[in-house]
Amino acid sequence: MKKIKHSEITPENIYKKRRSFVKKLGFGASALAVSSFPLISNASSKDRNELTSYKDITTYNNYYEFGTSKGDPHRNSKMFKTHPWNISIEGEVDKPIKLSMEEILDSFLSEERVYRLRCVEGWSMVIPWMGFSLSKLLSKVNPTSKAKFVAFESIYDPDQMKGQKYPVLNWPYKEGLRIDEAMHPLTTVVTGLYGKKLPNQNGAPLRIFIPWKYGFKSAKAIVKIKLVEKMPMSSWMWASPREYGFYSNVNPNVNHPRWSQATERIIGEGIWAPRVKTLMFNGYGDQVANLYTGMDLKKFF
Ligand code: MTE
Repeated sequence: MKKIKHSEITPENIYKKRRSFVKKLGFGASALAVSSFPLISNASSKDRNELTSYKDITTYNNYYEFGTSKGDPHRNSKMFKTHPWNISIEGEVDKPIKLSMEEILDSFLSEERVYRLRCVEGWSMVIPWMGFSLSKLLSKVNPTSKAKFVAFESIYDPDQMKGQKYPVLNWPYKEGLRIDEAMHPLTTVVTGLYGKKLPNQNGAPLRIFIPWKYGFKSAKAIVKIKLVEKMPMSSWMWASPREYGFYSNVNPNVNHPRWSQATERIIGEGIWAPRVKTLMFNGYGDQVANLYTGMDLKKFF
């Protein structure tokens, strides 16, 4: 029998083994998962829902604080300090709080959530995240009736994040959601992936993830969550309001001013693989379309 070196056992191997073991026990994949995969037609050569490899998920990143090339975050975030880490939840709330990362991990059980990340640039990955619904965290602070939006702020630390020494974006990275979007069960506080701690390049120690929106809405390394009355300005709206709207729902019918959003490239399939059709709300329409009833999604892009 071939001996496997420890270094050859990737998180992906372990993860897939665990999955098949759970399946053998007869629980089905859902024993570990709150996978909410949409039914997808127009699959490409490979199954469109196949998990992206751990390597691709952790070496092909967008994280401008660590550089603007896809390999930069992986290379430049190795020494990033994620401990100690505190997150404050404040603004239009009855009980503002500051929680340490340990308190968050102790208070909220992270579960596996397999969601597709669709980047506004036109590629996608399927990622087995670990996390829990943001609504659970927000219920700790009792939002007031004036809390109409939620603003997220990533860490500002130019000594550790060299990208912040350049005005690529209006630092710190900021994003926002309407309160009902933030309270939707699919909106996830992410603490890990592939059953492991969240790698620095993916937003450690804590990021959000909104499956039906373009990836840039999912701010990494969050230190502040503020409930506010007025629609907050995001870093991307600030950079180019014509290109990046507040909602940024995945929508194949609304093109980016500089490119089409009708199709996407599945990371890991190779650059010659056919692109696949992008789905409205990234395929999560059954669960989220009702948030936008009566809204003109071309106007509110
Ligand atoms: N969060 C911060 N703080 N800084 C960033 O540059 N990039 C966004 C988003 N969150 C970004 C960020 C973009 S454009 C995308 S597509 C996703 O993170 C990428 O997440 P991933 O690298 O884990 O795939």
